[in-house]
Amino acid sequence: MSFDRSIKIAPSILSADFADFGREIAAIEDQGADWVHVDVMDGHFVPNLTFGPPAVAAFRRHVTRFMDVHLMIAPVDPYIEAYAEAGADMITAHVEAGPHIHRTLQAIRAQGVKAGVALNPGTPAEAVADVLELADMVLVMTVNPGFGGQKFIPAGIDKTQRIRAMIGDRPIHVQIDGGVTPDTAPLVAAAGADVLVAGSAVFRGGSVTNPAPYGENIRAIRNVANDACGQ
Ligand code: DX5
Ligand code: ZN
Repeated sequence: MSFDRSIKIAPSILSADFADFGREIAAIEDQGADWVHVDVMDGHFVPNLTFGPPAVAAFRRHVTRFMDVHLMIAPVDPYIEAYAEAGADMITAHVEAGPHIHRTLQAIRAQGVKAGVALNPGTPAEAVADVLELADMVLVMTVNPGFGGQKFIPAGIDKTQRIRAMIGDRPIHVQIDGGVTPDTAPLVAAAGADVLVAGSAVFRGGSVTNPAPYGENIRAIRNVANDACGQ
């Protein structure tokens, strides 16, 4: 299959109703989500706690699209197998989560899942330069990880451009996570991002009983992003 460079919208279920994940996942997929983004937090690497492997396995039963699992945990290596067995299609680990990101990416690929490498806002683009051959995606954080609904940090735009240049024509996605809205999406799409995570900007105004706003929000982000990169 050829590499998909088109804009993909990945709603983060961190902004879903935590008592109703099955129906929330079905609703965002029906409303046009391309990927489903799952934010795993450990209360140590980031100051918040979310989903262990059994929760992610339960989400998997409802996800029919690509399930993208963003691990904001340290250490990360002891948990890779469990999140792969929970059904992740891609596992993303942070370069800041330990001294051996190269080994971590090898371990993710050894599980037969795609490997993503994430950078916090304070980490330079060059930190991923020597692991690109092991990565299917680079995640550029445009907020400090831990919470949804934060303000977009504009330095991520220039960083995205530098990462896109480093990648060249290799089949590696560039994902943006944090503060993505119809105002910020065109900036990162023009800089070379193809996967846009959005939590609050997708779930705002809707619910499982009124899912149409999810679709409107997804389309609003997709349309401005496509316009910005000429698609
Ligand atoms: C932040 C998470 C994000 C977050 C995005 O730590 O990695 O995925 O849910 O939320 P918004 O889109 O609301 O900034
Ligand atoms: Zn995330």
